[in-house]
Amino acid sequence: MKEYLTVALTKGRLVSDALSLLEKAGCAEKGIFDRNSRKLIFTDETHKMRFFLSKAQDVPTYVEAGAADLGVVGADTVLEEKRRVYEVLDLRFGACRMCVCGAPSAKKLLDARSIVRVATKYPAIAREYFYNERQQTVDIIKLNGSVELGPMVSLSDVIVDIVETGTTLKENGLEVLAEICPLSARLIVNQVSMQMETERIRSLIGRLKEQVEADD
Ligand code: PRP
Repeated sequence: MKEYLTVALTKGRLVSDALSLLEKAGCAEKGIFDRNSRKLIFTDETHKMRFFLSKAQDVPTYVEAGAADLGVVGADTVLEEKRRVYEVLDLRFGACRMCVCGAPSAKKLLDARSIVRVATKYPAIAREYFYNERQQTVDIIKLNGSVELGPMVSLSDVIVDIVETGTTLKENGLEVLAEICPLSARLIVNQVSMQMETERIRSLIGRLKEQVEADD
């Protein structure tokens, strides 16, 4: 048995909800993360857990490789990265939608089934949606952020991106043209850890599940 279970947490928007859920569920010591510190890994001796923060796209990489036993990451990243990990629990926070968005005039282009140019941080999700679900040929342009710029500077006709409050779209004259899927934070588990540390991991999933349901 390992001394510590290691959890990779996604930096940014999801981190405070993830930590508060772990604390409330009794899986992490209160205040385990010191935001003023430059330390990368935080050890919780009480629960025999280790936590670290990483970029969203890297969380499934750490978990697939077994460098982390568990990970907390958005469903968008799980779908895009397609890593061999178990997705075991919908944590329900970080709720948002993956959508096709653009200027209102772009709706006609989409419906006409012409070859539209799609800017996105999520090429795999966009490809799956357009090629498999809509059976529509598109040009996919990979961007790394501020994707809304795509249609605004005529790089693309539409975007495939996350919509949370809708403020970014509204402030830039864009709208949702089609919804692809709902998203939220997920708990993922390394496949070998699940076999080797079954009891500890099952108990952790159980406590988190109870807390998620209690918060609902
Ligand atoms: C995300 C997403 C949208 C925005 C949506 O971007 O890509 O741009 O948030 O949120 P809203 O509907 O509440 O306005 P993020 O802030 O993560 O930064 P990025 O554009 O650099 O990816």
